[in-house]
Amino acid sequence: MSFDLQDIPLDSAASAAIAAQGLEYRLLDPGNRAALAAWIQADVRGFHRARPRKSDATHQLQVLTDRRVLGVYDPKAADRETPVATVSGWPAGLTVPGGRSVDAWAVSSVTVSPTHRRRGIARALMAGSVADARAAGAALAMLTATEATIYGRFGYAPAAQAATITIDRPRVRWIGPAAPGRLELVEPAELRNDAAALVRRAVARTPGEIDRWPGLLDRVLGLIDLERDFARATRVVRYDDEDGQPQGFVTYRITRELDEPGILDFDFLVAATDDAERALWRFLVEQDFVTAVRGRLRSIDEPVAWLLEDPRAITVSDVVDHLWVRVLDPVAALSARVYGATGTLTLEIADPDGPADGTFELEVAGNGRGELRRVDDTPSAPMATPTRAAPSTRRSRPSQGIRLGVQELGAIYLGGVRPSVLARAGRLAEVAPGSIALADRMFASERTPHLSIWF
Ligand SMILES: CC(C)(COP(=O)(O)OP(=O)(O)OC[C@H]1O[C@@H](n2cnc3c(N)ncnc32)[C@H](O)[C@@H]1OP(=O)(O)O)[C@@H](O)C(=O)NCCC(=O)NCCS
Repeated sequence: MSFDLQDIPLDSAASAAIAAQGLEYRLLDPGNRAALAAWIQADVRGFHRARPRKSDATHQLQVLTDRRVLGVYDPKAADRETPVATVSGWPAGLTVPGGRSVDAWAVSSVTVSPTHRRRGIARALMAGSVADARAAGAALAMLTATEATIYGRFGYAPAAQAATITIDRPRVRWIGPAAPGRLELVEPAELRNDAAALVRRAVARTPGEIDRWPGLLDRVLGLIDLERDFARATRVVRYDDEDGQPQGFVTYRITRELDEPGILDFDFLVAATDDAERALWRFLVEQDFVTAVRGRLRSIDEPVAWLLEDPRAITVSDVVDHLWVRVLDPVAALSARVYGATGTLTLEIADPDGPADGTFELEVAGNGRGELRRVDDTPSAPMATPTRAAPSTRRSRPSQGIRLGVQELGAIYLGGVRPSVLARAGRLAEVAPGSIALADRMFASERTPHLSIWF
């Protein structure tokens, strides 16, 4: 997707809903630093965070230049420059099963001031972001959520989970294979260039990961403000293969009291190969003078349990819905991924008043590639006069299909939950016996979807 985000017209329905409240919906000019600075203050306040340091605000201003930034303003407020609601969006690729990237629209910074909540402002902003996403040609919208109760009503569903993994260091005995390459401790700034390429390769390996934006690596590597405690504590180790080519890295910090062993926290483990992944895990779990190793936003399907003699040394906690997906264009979204089994399956998708509503046929060929086509908008044949059904001369096998809502479609899209689980929950139905079993096989993903960042 290449176009100017400023050229997308302001959604008239969202503008009207906001105007009905006596408020004004505005698209911010990326060149207007004062307006963006006030918007950032509203954003951090909305998330109950402290006012940003100067270095963070400057960094955030830079990040926002590549985004579509919108605010709601109250002309009666004492401070009319600070918005009472914020939202931002930008085009970003989402990796789908099979490794392709689908054009998606990332939604972030959804906040409504506590003084203006529960008047439908967030609802209007969500409708506006769907309009922006569609105008940008995105197959789906996506976000990470502070609370799991907000976005279902807007057609979003959890599509990839994440968990905290804690390892009891004294119980660690490595039983995995030794990686053939070598580890190198490097200064964060030294890794900056290699890191971007490694991240791109790692993102492409995992359904659920999204394109990283310029600036994210600077934050993770602590390069925004080198004097900050976070930056000073951040260490980086890189894995190079036998040919000396970088294949992964992890950023981590060890916190400890005087004379006490420490706790190692890592938040960014990037592996472009399985060797790199194993080598970095081994580096982390074999640290001396450390009691625990903790990683946040890890996959719920990490191989680490199979690399340690004592899998009970591992505690998985805080398993959360993390990536939320709202399908906008089923044809583009479902044709992008690879499927686990061949077959033909009808999808009757309910998305009342939404863009995904309709009946589609998914056909998956031998190479796992899927093709989805709409089957409910063909010019209708002249209505036949209803008469007695003609007696069937041969027994035809009923075609396979499932009925589901747009949320359920988002939930199964990356293979994060099996359709049969949603059927057991009464949220998905089959149109013929065997359809759910077929849907399970088709929507299976070789790799469990996982998103390792907030956005
Ligand atoms: C979440 C937030 C944006 C909602 O804004 P709002 O303008 O009050 O929401 P609306 O009035 O448009 O509400 C729309 C619907 O969502 C529901 N809703 C809103 N906030 C909710 C919440 N936190 N939990 C559950 N439901 C919520 C409303 O009840 C309403 O339901 P209904 O219309 O289906 O009956 C706002 O509370 C906020 O800024 N929270 C703090 C920051 C945050 O968590 N943002 C989300 C980022 S992922």
